[in-house]
Formats: sequence, structure tokens, C-alpha cells
Amino acid sequence: MEEKAKVLEVKDLSVSYTVANVKTHILEDVSFAVSKGKSVGIVGESGCGKTTTMRAILNVLPSNGNVEKGEILYCGEDVLKMANAKLQEYRQKGAGMIFQDPSSALNPVISIKNQFLEALKYAHKDKKLTKAQLLEKAGKSLEAVSLADPERILNSYPFQLSGGMRQRVCIAMTLAAERQLLLADEPGTALDVTIQDQILRLIKQLVDSGELSVIMVTHSLGVIRQVTTEVNIMYAGTMVEGGDTKKVFEHPIHPYTEALMNCLPKLTGNGIAEGIPGRIPDYSNPPKGCRFAPRCPYALKKCQNERPVRHEVDGDHWVACFQAEEGRS
Ligand SMILES: Nc1ncnc2c1ncn2[C@@H]1O[C@H](COP(=O)(O)OP(=O)(O)O)[C@@H](O)[C@H]1O
Ligand SMILES: [Mg+2]
Repeated sequence: MEEKAKVLEVKDLSVSYTVANVKTHILEDVSFAVSKGKSVGIVGESGCGKTTTMRAILNVLPSNGNVEKGEILYCGEDVLKMANAKLQEYRQKGAGMIFQDPSSALNPVISIKNQFLEALKYAHKDKKLTKAQLLEKAGKSLEAVSLADPERILNSYPFQLSGGMRQRVCIAMTLAAERQLLLADEPGTALDVTIQDQILRLIKQLVDSGELSVIMVTHSLGVIRQVTTEVNIMYAGTMVEGGDTKKVFEHPIHPYTEALMNCLPKLTGNGIAEGIPGRIPDYSNPPKGCRFAPRCPYALKKCQNERPVRHEVDGDHWVACFQAEEGRS
């Protein structure tokens, strides 16, 4: 199989937050990659560190957040080491993010037109496009996200648009800026389910057309199955299993993945509810071994004390679990 160019590579990323002098070690050795034109999922319960991972990728961690180690390579260049100008360019032309709640991404007091102009002016700086040309790009991208009457949208303020429309506007901005990578952090979950569904379909369409690479963050396995070709299962700041979405779904190996899948039929809306007994560990004093060990029905002695490393199960499917390595007794 032909190896596609990597748009993004996250390598051994560890991130902590400090609150009132107490440091919590949230992400630990998170690694995954996104190839050109692919859609990669990250799934895990709430509090597992999904949003932290996205923020780190854009290099916009909150001020109490700290990258302890690791690399985030965008087209081979480390985002964490980029100088300001380069970083700005990366955010304007490289990666864009859409959020759970689309109202947070748009400035409420600036018209959509001016927000587009501001974003596109930088993204297309080298091409020296006129204002009319930039607005034409904006209009086209609004049409591409199925917003009829782009003219009216451009002349609106965010509060005049519905949540679904604002989410589409954010995606349109990413398209118009010709960014390569879209970070979708539980897109549309603050919105109506039908609107959410439309947004997901739109993202899938964009991926299928080869225009965008996407990281889809969600707690819904249904969304992962629908939209992604590769998936990473995240538990308490660590990646526990991953690979080809179909393979992982057909043959989940990590006890956490298995538990996620098992609680699925009992849920409405494909979420992850109280299905798995126990809770995420305290990040200020995380388990020494596997972070899932305290909740794992199959935990071995070794699991309490040592960190499992990932090993290949099959071509594009890996798992980090001692018990899977040694065979369940
Ligand atoms: N700014 C912050 N300061 C301290 N802790 C934080 C901050 N942001 C997130 N956290 C903590 O980090 C953990 C992971 O959060 P988050 O990345 O938002 O997870 P997810 O998106 O998977 O729900 C949670 O325990 C959360 O409370
Ligand atoms: Mg989140």
C-alpha cells in the first residue's frame, strides 16, 4: 500500500496542568498521525484529554497548561518550536478548529463578512487578492457548506444565525483559507441532533472529496464509524488502542475498548454513559502502571506496576495492553 504524506504527526506528547501549585499529568506519551486527505478519530470518555490534545496541536493550551515533552509535527515542522510569525501562518493556513459550541469561535460584534476578510487576508497574503476576490472565495465556500444565500450570511452578525449556520460558517472559513487540517472537537454536540448529523455529513463529504484532513474528536462510536477510516481510543490521557476503524470495531482488543463497545447498545444517542464501572483516575496521582488497571477486570499484577507499550496486532491495528500480549487466561 502506498504510504500517504503525513500532514500531522504527534509524537510522545505529554501535557500537564497546574492548579494551585498542584501539577496534574493529563496526557502521557500520546502519539498518532494524520495522513493527507484522511479522517482520524479520537474517542474516549469525557475528561480523557481529547480537547487538551486538540489545543496542544494548535498550540493554544490554557496558560496553566504545559507541554512536558513530545513533538507535534505539521508537514514535518514542530508546532511547539515555531516562531510567532510561523505559528500565525500555521493557524491561518494550516490547521483550523471547530468546537462543540460554535458561538465561541466567532466574534459576536464583527460581521461575518469582516471576519472572513480578516481570516482570508492573512491566509492568501502571498496572492495579493483584492477584496472582491476574497469575498468571492468566501461566497463559494459558504455555498460548499450548503448555506444558501451567501450574500445574506456575509452581511449578518453571528447572533442573527442559528447554531448550525454558525458551525457551517466556521467550516467555510477553514475551506476558504484552504487549510489542510480541520480539528473537529465534538462538532455540533451543543446543537440539535439533526443539525449535528448534517454537520457530520458535511465533514464526511469534504474528506471524501480529498480536500481536507480531519481529526474528529468525539465520545460517540457511531460518529467514528460513520466518518473516520482510522481511530485512536483514548483513556485517561493515554492512547490504548488504534488503527483501521473497521478492524478496531470488528476486533476490539483492549479491555477499555471492549467495555466501550459493550456499553454501546444500552445507550441512547451513541454516547458513553455510566456503562463502565469505576471512574477516570486522579491525574495528580495517576496509576503507576496502566492507567486503566484500577478499572480493568483482567488486570495482571504487572499492569499495576508497568506501563504497557503498544504492539502491532495486525498490519494497521495496535494495542497497548499486557494482558492482550500474554493472552487472556
Ligand atoms: N485549564 C485547565 N486547568 C486544569 N485542568 C484542566 C484544564 N483543562 C482541562 N483540565 C482537566 O484535564 C482533563 C482532560 O480534560 P479535556 O482535555 O477537556 O478532556 P475531554 O475533552 O476528553 O473531555 C480533565 O480532568 C480536566 O478537568
Ligand atoms: Mg472536550
